[in-house]
Parts: sequence; C-alpha cells; structure tokens
Amino acid sequence: MLPLAVLEEVQAEIVDYGSAGMSIIEMSHRSPPYEAVHRGAIALLRDLLAVPDDFEVLFIQGGATMQFGMLPLNLLTGSSAGAYVDTGAWASKAFEDAAHHGDVYEAWSGRDIGYTRMPQAAELSLRRDTRYVHLTSNETIGGIQYKEWPDVAEPLVADMSSDLLSRRVPWERFDVVYGGVQKNVAPAGLALVFIRRSALEHTPRDLASYFRYDVHASKDSMYNTPPVFPIYVMEKVLRWIQDRGGLPAMEAAADARAGLLYQTIDESDGFYTSPVDGASRSNMNVVFRLSDHDLEPQFVAVASGRGMVGLKGHRNVGGCRASIYNAMPMAGVEALCEFMADFQESVG
Ligand SMILES: Cc1ncc(COP(=O)(O)O)c(C=O)c1O
Repeated sequence: MLPLAVLEEVQAEIVDYGSAGMSIIEMSHRSPPYEAVHRGAIALLRDLLAVPDDFEVLFIQGGATMQFGMLPLNLLTGSSAGAYVDTGAWASKAFEDAAHHGDVYEAWSGRDIGYTRMPQAAELSLRRDTRYVHLTSNETIGGIQYKEWPDVAEPLVADMSSDLLSRRVPWERFDVVYGGVQKNVAPAGLALVFIRRSALEHTPRDLASYFRYDVHASKDSMYNTPPVFPIYVMEKVLRWIQDRGGLPAMEAAADARAGLLYQTIDESDGFYTSPVDGASRSNMNVVFRLSDHDLEPQFVAVASGRGMVGLKGHRNVGGCRASIYNAMPMAGVEALCEFMADFQESVG
C-alpha cells in the first residue's frame, strides 16, 4: 500500500512534470529535474534514517533477490565466510543464493520449530572467520521480526525488505542494510543498499560493473540509467513520512496498528490464534489462523466482499496474513478488527 496522497500527486503530475512539457519518466536521467529528485531522495533517506556519513546509499535494480547474490560477491573475499541465520522463507532464499558465490554457513535455523521465533545471540554458532552475520529483519511470510538485534561482535547485514523505514537502524552494528522497496517505500523495481564505506575498500574489481557496489557508489547510483519511476515515487513517500514525524512516528504507528490486531486475536477466546512466539511478533505482517482452519476460505472471501483484500496467508504457510505497512491507516486495522469480531459472532 502506498499513501493515497502520494498516488494522487503522481497522478496530477505524471503527464507534465513541473510544466516541462513532458513526464518525469520521459526525461533524461541527466536532466536537472530528475537529478533533483534523485539527490533529494538520497538526502531524505539519510535524514529520516539518520544514516551516518560513512555509509553509501545506493539504488540498485533487481530487487532484494539480486542482493542475495551481490552481497557475497562483494563481501566474501579472501577466506572469510558469511553466517546466515535461517528464520524462514526469505532467509533461506538469501542463504541458498549466497552459497553460489562464497563460503557461507547456517549459524542457526528455526526450521525444527516451524520458524515461530527469532533466535537469541547466544544461540548462534559463529565461526572465527565470519565476515558478516546475515539477518532477515522481518520474515514477510512467516510473520516474525527481530525486536532486538543479536548482540554479536561480527558486523551485521540485514535484509530489511519488509520493514524498511518502519524502524530506526543502529548503524554502528551494521555493515550493510538492504531491501526491496515495494513493501513500505515505493513501487517495485528498486533495492536500497546502505553500505559502510570501509566495506567497499576490499570489494573485488573483477566483477561485471553492475554487480560492483563500489561502481554504484562512485557514480551516485547513476552508473547506468536508474529506475526513475520508483525513485520518483519514493521521494514523495519519504516526504510523506517526514511530514508525519519521521521514523519515530512510523514506529509508533506500526506498534499501535499491530498492537490492536494482536489484541483482537488474543482476546478472541481462541477463535483466532497467532502461530508465532509473542516476543517475535511482526509489526508489519500479522499472521493468524482461525482455530477451525476450514473456515479460513470463508473468512477471506467475506472480508474481500467488505473491501478487505489480500488476507489470505502465503501459499506456503496457509492461514491468514494482514500486511500493515507504513501507509496503512489505523482506520484500516480498526475496520479489520471489527470485521473479525463480527465474523466470529456470525459463525460462533
Ligand atoms: C524479506 C524479503 N526479502 C526479500 C524479498 C524479495 O524481494 P524482491 O522481490 O525485491 O527481490 C522479499 C519479497 O517479498 C521479502 O519480503
């Protein structure tokens, strides 16, 4: 979901941008109007996320999935290894792809407990040659999220695709934060990569140029034609976040939305249940089941009839899932909770 105000602004200026007589998506990416958008988006990201000066902010196509490969290609040089924390579907994908490009190992897996929680630092088995510890900040499908970052000595790398810009980042712990933008920030077509400059010093130079973080960094993410449309929309979303009070406000809103939904689940006398551990409950993707699983298709269909779509859980896990990203107003969650109570009463 994107903020309606942003969509309307895009609609109003898509044909003729700033009286230029053409759309922003028709202009050269070297034109002053686009350059202003591009640099404005980087500045807003730095400001909102309090990105330190010794980090580069990169815009790279290919989504988070390409980062699964690009990360080990760039960081696992020499004899170092990447530790991967297997917390669900997306962490597993990151690990599988990284294994094509470097020495990686599983530091922990939640497979045997059905991926119902994030691990504690003490549970991670880390090798001495570990270059980074890869985490998936929020498992979009399984509905679990780190509330505390594991306190380990090694630099953290996080895939934050599904909670980017909904929480502050303690940069001192990270070498890289990356994520596809299409959940919380902009339309698909772009990944954000925040990388510590010192990590670029040893990246290999014998890779095709697009795969090199240092090349993107040296050209301000304009080595080749950037994905103009998602960056243009993102710049507006970032201003929308800034106008609402920045990340502290996004965090508070996410807590309030998720809090209400989990409360509705917890107070339903077992009609609805949350399959995940209380300490790892995601603020972005609330996964729940109906105790009578057979009622789930009906629940999803009736909700859809009331204009609430996308509540069916991911095909790999079943059940239901409410994705409540930054742009979801509290009223949307209130409407869902009301519907959940009505539905319970109607079939109970
Ligand atoms: C946590 C997480 N990581 C990675 C991805 C893959 O992102 P992309 O489609 O941008 O490659 C997703 C997509 O949903 C995701 O939720």
